[in-house]
Order: sequence, then structure tokens, then C-alpha cells
Amino acid sequence: MPQINITFPNGSKTEVLVENGALGRLYKSLKTSNSKKLLISTSNTKKHLQKNLKQFASLAPIVEVPEGELCKSLNEVEKIYSICISNKLEKNSTLIAVGGGSVGDLAGFVATTYKRGINLIVVPTTLLSQVDCLMTKVGINFINLKNVIAAFCHPSSVVIDPPLIYSLDESRFASGFAEIIKYGMIGYKDLISDIEKISNSNIREKQNRIKLSKLIYRCCKYKSEFAREDPYDKKGVQIFLGYGHTLANAIEMSLDYTHGEAVSIGMVCAAKISYRLGYLDKKVVDLHITLLKQKGLPIALPKESDINEILAYLAHDKKTENNVCNFILLKDIGKPFLHNVPLHVIYEVLNGLSI
Ligand SMILES: NC(=O)c1ccc[n+]([C@@H]2O[C@H](COP(=O)([O-])OP(=O)(O)OC[C@H]3O[C@@H](n4cnc5c(N)ncnc54)[C@H](O)[C@@H]3O)[C@@H](O)[C@H]2O)c1
Ligand SMILES: [Zn+2]
Repeated sequence: MPQINITFPNGSKTEVLVENGALGRLYKSLKTSNSKKLLISTSNTKKHLQKNLKQFASLAPIVEVPEGELCKSLNEVEKIYSICISNKLEKNSTLIAVGGGSVGDLAGFVATTYKRGINLIVVPTTLLSQVDCLMTKVGINFINLKNVIAAFCHPSSVVIDPPLIYSLDESRFASGFAEIIKYGMIGYKDLISDIEKISNSNIREKQNRIKLSKLIYRCCKYKSEFAREDPYDKKGVQIFLGYGHTLANAIEMSLDYTHGEAVSIGMVCAAKISYRLGYLDKKVVDLHITLLKQKGLPIALPKESDINEILAYLAHDKKTENNVCNFILLKDIGKPFLHNVPLHVIYEVLNGLSI
């Protein structure tokens, strides 16, 4: 698949490669470079990708960080800064992030801020991170608020090797599908028929692996178009990539869901609000539910969930002011728009989603 290139206004460039065997090729190219490197991953990722990562040990020290959201903390940022300093990493040194979106966010934040920016190579290893983590924006969690400390980031390469994801469990596959469905809903209707064809039971079949690699490529291409058009979030174009996310971030903070599971509920809620306010046809709400359910994703909140707590987190969101949340809604597939939604309307819809 052709390489995707993004050039940022300051001249820095990100190349995105989606190719079977891309990680092996990255190793070969890094072997010939003299600059200092540090690889960041997690113990679980290393365990699953043992064969693929073995050779990297001779290239760079490998730093293990906590799994999932736990690594996105200032404490971990400080630890990596210290390791960068003790390993004498300079302006031309490279951080290599191998893992899901969390590891990418952590490494991206460090690479952007250490010495005003060092080289970053991201190797996403979950379906979610392969379809959605170009790492042009990175975030760290703070005082139980998700991505509240954040920065723009320009990785030099995003190296996507689709076969790396086949050690994921079903819930992690589902989580990635939530983001693919998001792309389908905000503007890329053509993705939907392909999404419908792949299910948890046939995902490992050869022809579906090929289909999934193509879906990954197309999502990266779409995301790169947004990043190219509005690299610093000034035109409000990238905002629609956050469809389902305003609520998802609050749900993730309150309940034990993966990012994709929370996005799934967030999208169902956004679609239901859109319908309730008279903007969206019920058929599109039903399509959300059918696709998300088919991938094994939650479409409702558990009965015991504390909706007031979720709303309290939502009140912290930068899009909420005076108890009104600037929410991404849909007029149709491919027609997202921003709309002020009072928190009480969100409460009512969430209450109806509580099973
Ligand atoms: N900055 C961005 O561009 C961007 C975009 C979207 C999401 N994100 C962030 O990404 C995070 C979610 O990322 P995620 O869903 O990738 O999860 P994750 O990074 O939290 O990883 C989840 C788990 O998957 C395991 N894992 C990783 N690769 C594996 C493999 N190949 N086989 C088996 N297990 C593997 C990890 O060890 C970890 O325990 C969120 O924090 C979200 O905010 C960032
Ligand atoms: Zn997301």
C-alpha cells in the first residue's frame, strides 16, 4: 500500500507505512543509523510480540511501562525523562514506541517535550492504535482526567505492520472496530459495507485479514487528511474525529471500559441525542446499534453505573460551559456537526441507555 505523507506547517513530516513486515524493515533501517535510541513498550506487548521484538534489544534499551492508561501519567513521563537523561539522549536521538495508543501517547508526549522535541517512531500494535493513532496529538491523564495534559506531536514515522494485531483478544479487536465505525459514521460511508463483512468469528481468515489491512490503511489515510487540513485544530475540522469521544472520555474515567467500548456507548448516545433533537433518522441510530453489537461492543451502560459521576467528568470537558456541552451530533451518515446540548438532555439519554 502506498506510503502516506503528512507535511506540517513548520516543515516537519510524518510518513505512515501500512505494510506486512514493516516492523522487520524498520529494524533493518535503524540498524544502519548511529543515533541513540530508546524503545518504550509494555511487558504484555513484549510477551505477545517476543519474536518480532527480540532483535530490537541489540539496537536500543527497552523500557517497560505500565499497561494501558496507567502509563499515561506524569509519573511515567518523569521516569522516561530520567532514562533519556541517563542514556544521554540528544536532539537527534529517537524514541520508538511499540504498543497500543497508550504507549504512543506517553512516548509522544516525552518525545515532544524532551529537549524541545526529539525524533519519534510509533509502531502501533493494537487494532485501535493502527486505525486511529497517527500521534499528531498526544495526551497524558492527570487527577483522573483523561488527556488533560496534551500537546501536538509530529512523529517522523508511524510504522503499521497489520499482522502484529493477531495476538489481541476479542475485546481489543472490538475496541478497534469502534474507531473504524466512527470513521464510517462521520464521513466515509464506503467503509460500512466492509465493516459489515468482518466479524469476530471470521477475522483471522486470510481474505478478511487482507480486508482488514485495507481498512486500516483507509482509516490512516482519512485521519491524515484531517491532520493535513487542520494540523493545529484551528479550523475545527479535526473535531469531528472526536465523534462519540466527549462522552467516552467521561465513561472511561468512571467505568472499567476499554477506549473503544466507551466510544461505542458514546456514539450510541450521540446518535440518540441527534435523533431526539430531530436531526437524525432512526434508521441511522439503528445502524449504529447493529454494527456495534455485531462487533461485540456495548451499546448501553451497566445498570449500576453512576450517571451523575459520568456527567461530573463531562462537566470538566473543555467543550462544556455553563452546563451546556458542545457535542458532536449527526444529521446523517457523513454529516457531523457541533451542537450545544444541555447536560440534562445527556442525562436523560444516558438514563435511557442504562440497562
Ligand atoms: N494520540 C492519538 O493519536 C490517539 C488516538 C486514539 C487513541 N489514543 C489513546 O490510545 C489509548 C487506547 O489505546 P489502545 O486501545 O491501543 O490500548 P492500550 O494502549 O491501552 O493497550 C491495551 C493493551 O493491549 C496490549 N497489547 C498491545 N499490543 C498487543 C498485541 N499485539 N497483542 C496483545 N496485546 C497487546 C497492551 O499490552 C495493553 O495491555 C487511549 O489512551 C487513547 O486516548 C491516542
Ligand atoms: Zn479514540
